[in-house]
Amino acid sequence: MKNTQNPNQSQFDKKAQAWSARFSEPVSELVKRYTASVDFDKRLARFDIQGSLAHAQMLEAVSVISKQDRSDIERGMAQILEEIDAGRFEWLLDLEDVHLNIEKRLVELVGDAGKRLHTGRSRNDQVATDIRLWLRYEIDGLILLLEQLRQALATVALEHAGTILPGFTHMQVAQPVTFGHHLLAYAEMFGRDAARLADCRKRVNILPLGAAALAGTSFPIDRPMVAKLLAFDDVCQNSLDAVSDRDFAIEFCSACALIMTHISRFSEELVIWMSPRIGFIDLADRFCTGSSIMPQKKNPDVPELARGKTGRVNGHLVALLTLMKGQPLAYNKDNQEDKEGLFDTADTVRDTLTIFVDLVAGIKVKADAMRAAALQGFATATDLADYLVKRGVPFRDAHEAVAHAVRECEKKGCDLADLSVSELQKFHTAVGDDVHTVLTLEGSVAARNHIGGTAPERVRQAALKIIDSALKNSN
Ligand code: ARG
Repeated sequence: MKNTQNPNQSQFDKKAQAWSARFSEPVSELVKRYTASVDFDKRLARFDIQGSLAHAQMLEAVSVISKQDRSDIERGMAQILEEIDAGRFEWLLDLEDVHLNIEKRLVELVGDAGKRLHTGRSRNDQVATDIRLWLRYEIDGLILLLEQLRQALATVALEHAGTILPGFTHMQVAQPVTFGHHLLAYAEMFGRDAARLADCRKRVNILPLGAAALAGTSFPIDRPMVAKLLAFDDVCQNSLDAVSDRDFAIEFCSACALIMTHISRFSEELVIWMSPRIGFIDLADRFCTGSSIMPQKKNPDVPELARGKTGRVNGHLVALLTLMKGQPLAYNKDNQEDKEGLFDTADTVRDTLTIFVDLVAGIKVKADAMRAAALQGFATATDLADYLVKRGVPFRDAHEAVAHAVRECEKKGCDLADLSVSELQKFHTAVGDDVHTVLTLEGSVAARNHIGGTAPERVRQAALKIIDSALKNSN
């Protein structure tokens, strides 16, 4: 039966694979590519090294490795980091993933000390630690970007606290609002998004290392020490859970899906506002492109693409949920599939937010077009009804009287404000000489003077609150 031997056997370099002593034949090229993650997880290298250094420091502290081992490991890792930064590090598919690539090189550089590093740990707790370190870093960056976006929105809002445009419900003109107020609605959403990420960070920032493959380790490890070295808030309390769950990543993707959903709603408005039919704003040329065939076109590509990219971020969330749902405890290779979607989520949201900070600052507001639109569609009808109510008319009767007045205006092709006092009195005798003060756009917005209202004074205060809070945080 000698010739049943795999023909590749002779080329099988058992030393190339960390687990190869157990195997009698190599995997096929396709299986190698299929199972390897190094092409994408090499971006975790810096965090992998950070985790390894903390692990080595702890192993020395509990006398599992010697001082010399630790310093050899540190020397080797410093060189590896240098090689990676300089683009000189040779990543090998044969070595499957970032962890084994780095470990192999470490052994090449420092010998036995490198072989001792993996004592008391497994790639399972190692990779979970790497992802958490990476994600924590990304979350901090995204929270900063969300704050910058809020600042950009608040700055434009302050400038346009009194710029009136129609507010819509059902895409029908509803009531006049200010542009500043409209922008600050998004500042609220992005504020909650930042709070969600900060909350998610609490659960990301827990140390899995020490769980080893799944059951913990028989070495006298000091997990709190490693947590402290890596600035984790705590250690995972169950080794099976530590290596297997990716709920923290799902939470992150969910928070990101919401960020993109808010960006997408905003984008939709930007696209509508920039349509020549509406013409409320213009976006700086650097966010738009032309058409190869229609010379007159200036397309709002960036908001359109951001709206489109929301789809892929939402997709990554569903992919991760699906990845997790069928997995028994503890670690399964399925989890390797968490990375690409997670990386792409962070990259997409980071790029989108970075671009939007600049895009918002460069919005050119066409106040005349906004005002003209607010004057159409009887945006102050509610103000007239409220006016009657304040003069003792029950709201339903006031509503009815104004509805008649609107019909009359439609017939005449004019606005409510164009009717004289005596004409308006025909619809209700409670109409007085001062009625036109509430029929103007300015009167309408100024009247909504309470927390959360669109009165320019309130909008100014709300914008300043956001701007001041940033100043306070930077002091
Ligand atoms: N590349 C793997 C991942 O991303 C690392 C953990 C591998 N563990 C194992 N037992 N095969 O999940």
